[in-house]
Amino acid sequence: MGKLTTFPSVLSSIDDLSLDQIEGLLSLARKIKNKDYLGIPFGTTGPIIATYFLEPSTRTMHSFSIAIHKLGGKHLRFEANSSSLVKGETFKETLRTFASQGVSLCITRTSENDFFEPYKDAPPIRLINGGDGTCEHPTQALLDLFTILEYDKNARGKTLTLVGDITHSRVSNSLIKILKKYGIKVILCGPVEMLPKEAEGVDLTQDLDTALDKTDFLYLLRIQKERHANTVDGAIDFHTLYGINLPRLSRLNKKIPVFHPGPVNIGVELTHEVLDSDYYMGYKQVENSIYMRMALIKAMLKNKDTNVGTFKSFS
Ligand code: NCD
Repeated sequence: MGKLTTFPSVLSSIDDLSLDQIEGLLSLARKIKNKDYLGIPFGTTGPIIATYFLEPSTRTMHSFSIAIHKLGGKHLRFEANSSSLVKGETFKETLRTFASQGVSLCITRTSENDFFEPYKDAPPIRLINGGDGTCEHPTQALLDLFTILEYDKNARGKTLTLVGDITHSRVSNSLIKILKKYGIKVILCGPVEMLPKEAEGVDLTQDLDTALDKTDFLYLLRIQKERHANTVDGAIDFHTLYGINLPRLSRLNKKIPVFHPGPVNIGVELTHEVLDSDYYMGYKQVENSIYMRMALIKAMLKNKDTNVGTFKSFS
């Protein structure tokens, strides 16, 4: 590869390369592949981790990105609108492409429910659900439990009330599961259209003040308008009935921390006075999300799962 100094800085066509340069590249690629290249190292040797987000995100995407950087990895951000997705390429094919490119793990967000089912037994690469439709958001639940326990290490046996749009929230599904597993009692509270008809092992109520009297931790959910499809009365005055303000919190005989996964609709789930107060735990959740996601990535990359990479179905 004696022609590195004359190598073009812009490669727009094969016409830009001489046969000598092409042969040099072929030889260098072979050496890198066979690990006998002792040239200048490129970047870190940490894992390459992709995000494949088909729904908007600020906290989850950036928190994963920062976690990857702090672990010494590289973040490959899949840009849906400029990818082969717009040419009809499927997620399965994208994952197999990632796998062939040496990506170790992919974090995904979609509006499709049960998105991960086809990959459970033989994933092309390791996968993390960053939110699938109204189904689950497991990493949010993990960081929430971490933050609850940081606030109160004796949270086991106490009660958390989830307020708001329970039925359309993937955050609530994962959170209810993790709280039940850990042994924190759950009350679900909201207008009838936003409450499940029944839910095993949790209490349901439409009356916020009764719930508040029994609760140790309050967890507010954004109203998921994008998932309502006319199932919720648009005229409902949510803030009057279920909104959290400082007078409502200060009349209670104990201090109740207020958690929220974000983004917050200020003036709907809570007032800006609550957001600015020390009742509000949302920024702690954001901070802790980095540590929890670093831990998760580390744990997943260290596993010895021999099924990873065995996925072989075009169907
Ligand atoms: C949540 C989501 O996207 O599910 N946000 C988040 O990840 N922090 C909650 C929401 O959008 O309401």
